[in-house]
Amino acid sequence: MRIDIITVLPDLLKSPFQHSILKRAQEKKLVEVNLINLRDYASDNYNSVDDYCYGGGAGMVMMIEPIANCIYKLKSQRNYDEIIYMSPDGELLNQKIANQISLFQNIIILCGHYKGVDERVREHFITREISIGDYVLSGGELAAAVLCDSIIRIIPGVISDETSALFDSFQDGLIAPPVYTRPYDFNGLKVPDVLLSGNEKIIDEWRLQQSIERTKKRRPNLF
Ligand code: ADE
Repeated sequence: MRIDIITVLPDLLKSPFQHSILKRAQEKKLVEVNLINLRDYASDNYNSVDDYCYGGGAGMVMMIEPIANCIYKLKSQRNYDEIIYMSPDGELLNQKIANQISLFQNIIILCGHYKGVDERVREHFITREISIGDYVLSGGELAAAVLCDSIIRIIPGVISDETSALFDSFQDGLIAPPVYTRPYDFNGLKVPDVLLSGNEKIIDEWRLQQSIERTKKRRPNLF
């Protein structure tokens, strides 16, 4: 999978891709992430990417020209399955959407800034708008990092024990069961004995029951 991220702050996005699972996914060549500086596609001598809002009002708007230049260049090199705009107005990210996008070959993610992008970008270039929650961030970069993490970790082969991603919360519509590690007894706080029984069937049943109870209690809307 190839992910091209268009941003005015490429440095802000470097770190999330340089650690842990996202780093290993790139090393294994299961994903290629390109951070593209929108200013490189500006068409004036000042590298402008934003301008005042027509009709007045506070805040700057991201201009269509640099974004169009950048997207035309990318599209001349390969086909894209989706051109995603990170926006609080978009559809709310969930596991189903992450699963779907993780199957794509090539995607572009556009990070918004300032007051947003010129509406013509949304109308003519964007195929999907995604929000990571009903709150407003300063820009789309952190949201893009969240989206990428949710997609990349479920690409087959990225997590060595594939089953571990399959049993994540939400993959089966349920919240994950509680997990424990050593010590067995911490100042009287003990690990449930069933987990030490060695009986895989009983442990699986217990975990499923815990998942169901947790989901009912914490996220009844998932039922
Ligand atoms: N940009 C600003 N806020 C956002 C949000 N909640 N989700 C996605 N992109 C955003």
